[in-house]
Amino acid sequence: MSVGGSGTPDAWSALSAHRDAIADIDLRGMFDADPDRVSALTADAAGIHFDYSRHRITTETIELLAALARERRVETLRDAMFRGERINRTEDRPVLHVALRMPPERSLVVDGTDVVREVHRVLDRMSTFADEVRSGARTGHTGLPFEAVVNIGIGGSALGPEMASQALRHFSHDRIEFRFVSNVDGSDLEEAVAGLDPERTLFIVCSKTFTTLETMTNARAARAWSLAGLGGDPDAVASHFVAVSTNLEAVADFGIDPNETFGFWDWVGGRYSMDSAIGLSTMLAIGPENFRAMLAGFHAVDEHFLSETITENIPMLHGLIAVWNRNFLGMGSSAVIPYAEDLSRFPAYLQQLTMESNGKRVEQDGTPVECETGAVWWGEPGTDAQHSFFQLLHQGTDPIPLDLIVFERPGREIDEVQGQHRLLVANALAQGRALAFGRTAEETRKAGVEEDLVAHRTFPGNRPSATLMLDRLTPTSLGSLVALYEHSVFTQGAIWGIDSFDQWGVELGKEMAGELVPYLSGEAEGGLDASTEALIRRYRKAEAAGD
Ligand code: F6P
Repeated sequence: MSVGGSGTPDAWSALSAHRDAIADIDLRGMFDADPDRVSALTADAAGIHFDYSRHRITTETIELLAALARERRVETLRDAMFRGERINRTEDRPVLHVALRMPPERSLVVDGTDVVREVHRVLDRMSTFADEVRSGARTGHTGLPFEAVVNIGIGGSALGPEMASQALRHFSHDRIEFRFVSNVDGSDLEEAVAGLDPERTLFIVCSKTFTTLETMTNARAARAWSLAGLGGDPDAVASHFVAVSTNLEAVADFGIDPNETFGFWDWVGGRYSMDSAIGLSTMLAIGPENFRAMLAGFHAVDEHFLSETITENIPMLHGLIAVWNRNFLGMGSSAVIPYAEDLSRFPAYLQQLTMESNGKRVEQDGTPVECETGAVWWGEPGTDAQHSFFQLLHQGTDPIPLDLIVFERPGREIDEVQGQHRLLVANALAQGRALAFGRTAEETRKAGVEEDLVAHRTFPGNRPSATLMLDRLTPTSLGSLVALYEHSVFTQGAIWGIDSFDQWGVELGKEMAGELVPYLSGEAEGGLDASTEALIRRYRKAEAAGD
C-alpha cells in the first residue's frame, strides 16, 4: 500500500519495501543476527524502561519509521500542541492536557489567558476541599463526616478516575470508600449506593458538558436518593453534591452551588481529563500531595516527549511501532496486559483513549484516509489473562502485538512475604519469551512429545510484544504510564493525519437513542426500519405484560 493522498509516498514506500525485505526473518533470526539488539531496541526515560526488542523490527525499521514521522511532521504538530495552537480542527480548539500538569512556575498564555495559572487555581481549590473532606472538617448536612464518595460520570468523566482509584487503592484514604456510577442502567446506581448512609455520602457529578444523558439521569436519581435519606429537605442535599464541569451555567441550573463546582476548560478532551478536576475523586482518595506526584509523573513524560529525539523518544517509538504493526504487518488489534491486579481497569481506560481518539476514517481536511487507522485495543491483567485468552495469542492464526506492563518492586508487603511478586514477574517475562521464540516441532519432539501431538504442542513464536518495566506502581509512575499512552496515541494520529481529539462517531447513536424513547413509550409509531420496529414491538409487549 502507498499513502498517496497523505503525501507520504517516500517513507511509506521505503517501509513497505523494508517490510518485504525482512519478511522471512523471524524473531529468533533477528536476535541471532544482532548481539546488540536489546541495547539498540530499548529506551529509558521518566522511570520507564521500554524494551521493544521483541517487536518484528530492526534498527533500520526504526530509522525508517523516524523518517516517516519527520515526513508527517509529527514533531511540528507536537510542538503546536504544546504551544496551545488549535490542533483539534473539527472542534476548533487547542489540545492542552499537557498544561494540566505543568508546574506552577511555568506559564502558557493562550488567547490572552495564562492557562497554567488557571490550572493551579483550580488545583488549589480542589486541594482545600480534599483536605477538608479527608480530615472530616467538611461534613454532610447532619454534621457527620463523609465515609463514601460516589463519582457520577461516563466515558472520560469516569474511566480515568475509576482506573486511578483502583490502581492507587493502596494509597487510598482509609475512612472513605469510593464508588463509580456511569451506566444509565439503573442497576449501576442502585448497586453503587447500596448499603451507603445518605448522611455520610458525597456525590461528585462529573461531566465536561453537563448534558450527557447517562450522567444527568443518574445525578437526578442520586439526588432523589439523597433527598429521601436526608428527610426530604432540598437544602440538605446541597452539602452532599459537588460538580466538575466546563459548563458552569448548566451546573447552576441543575442546582449545584457554583462555590461547590470545580471547573476545567474546553481544551481538555474528556479522555484526557483524569488529571484535571475530573480527578477530584482521585485526589480525595489519595490526597493532594499524591495527586501532585501523579501530575509530576505525567509532566516528566511530557518533557521527554517534547524534547527527546524520535529514536529515543518512548511515546513516539511506541506510537510508531503501533503504526508499523497496524499498517505494515496488518495487525488490527493490540493487547495491553498489566502484570498488576491494581491496574485491572487500565485496559478499559486505554480503550477510550486509543479508540475514541484514533477510530477515524477521514483526515483533518475531510478526505478519506488511505490506510488503516486505529487498531482495537484491549486487555486484562496478567496472570489471569494467561488462563483465558492467551491460548489464542500463542497458537491462534492472527499474531496480536502485546504490551506487557511489569513493576520491578511489589506494591504490597504480602508480595514480599510469599515471594508472590517474583512469580508475577516470572510469568510476565515468560509470556514475552514464549510468544517471541515459541517452540519448534523439533524442540517439541526432543521434549518427548508423542508424534501425533507434536503439531498441537508446537508454538510458532514470532509474536511481537514490548515490555514496559517501571519501578513500582505509585501515583508518579501511574501518571507517567498514562502520559506515555496519550502521546503514543498522538503520534499514531499524527502519522495518519486524522483528528485524534474529536469524537463525532459517538453522536449518531446518542441522537438515535433520544429519537427512540417515544417509540418505546408508545407515543410515536412507524417510519423506522423493520428490524428496529420488530424489536420495539417485542419490548412493548413485554412491558404491557408487566414481566
Ligand atoms: O461518549 C462520548 C463522550 O463525549 C466522551 O468523549 C466523553 O468522555 C463522555 O462522552 C462524557 O462526556 P461528558 O463529560 O461531557 O459527560
